[in-house]
Amino acid sequence: MSDITISSGSTRFGDTDRRDLWWLPPLSIFLGLSTFIVYATFRVFYNADYVVDNETSAYLLSPLYSPLIIIPWLPAWISPAMLVLWAPGGFRLTCYYYRKAYYRSFALDPAACAVSERKKNYAGETRLLLIQNIHRYFLYLALVFIVILSIDFIHSVMWPEGFGMSVGSLVILGTVVLLGLYTFSCHSLRHLVGGKIDCYSCVAFGKARHSAWKGVTRLNKSHMYWAWTSLFMVAFADLYIWLVSSGTIIDFRIF
Ligand code: FES
Repeated sequence: MSDITISSGSTRFGDTDRRDLWWLPPLSIFLGLSTFIVYATFRVFYNADYVVDNETSAYLLSPLYSPLIIIPWLPAWISPAMLVLWAPGGFRLTCYYYRKAYYRSFALDPAACAVSERKKNYAGETRLLLIQNIHRYFLYLALVFIVILSIDFIHSVMWPEGFGMSVGSLVILGTVVLLGLYTFSCHSLRHLVGGKIDCYSCVAFGKARHSAWKGVTRLNKSHMYWAWTSLFMVAFADLYIWLVSSGTIIDFRIF
């Protein structure tokens, strides 16, 4: 990494002495996030085929539409997903990892380390961006969503004749697990459970909080990985349920 200094005297946007593929990560993130945003926006407005609910298969609800809130008097174009997605959407938008990702990939400010910036008067997350501090409140909501999605999984294994497991149940389980890992590796949660404590032996439940902090810290190291895998698992789960609900494929029952 000895060649990652900005050219001395260069002030033009994008100038750098870097000879590696520094533009590849921001470009990949731009394409990945854009793909998800386009897909999710389409599905939110599509407002159909988001649930499988019949006598002969597992109950499967798309994570984009969970919890399912149907208000009959609302205009037809307002889908149930619009009533709930602001919470997980806000959680991701204000996430410390995604902030870095979209500042670099969408705002190009800066596009990468040691690459000349667009603006020179960077003021950090002050003024308008101060609103990012709301992340800790979205975390509380995200924890509630983990419970709700876990209940969706329980519904998916309750067949009319008793317990059963289908590919769809496994898809929902995978979504809950990955979203759980993403949520429990959150930087705000790490701060909340013990990151703000200077002396564990001086506070109530110090030992338990230290253990919790160590657990979250271990998960936190892979926060970026959980952010991406959970994002694409949500899209995959929605796509799978869409295909089953529309009759394009059959949800195979394993036992
Ligand atoms: S920092 Fe990413 S979810 Fe909290």
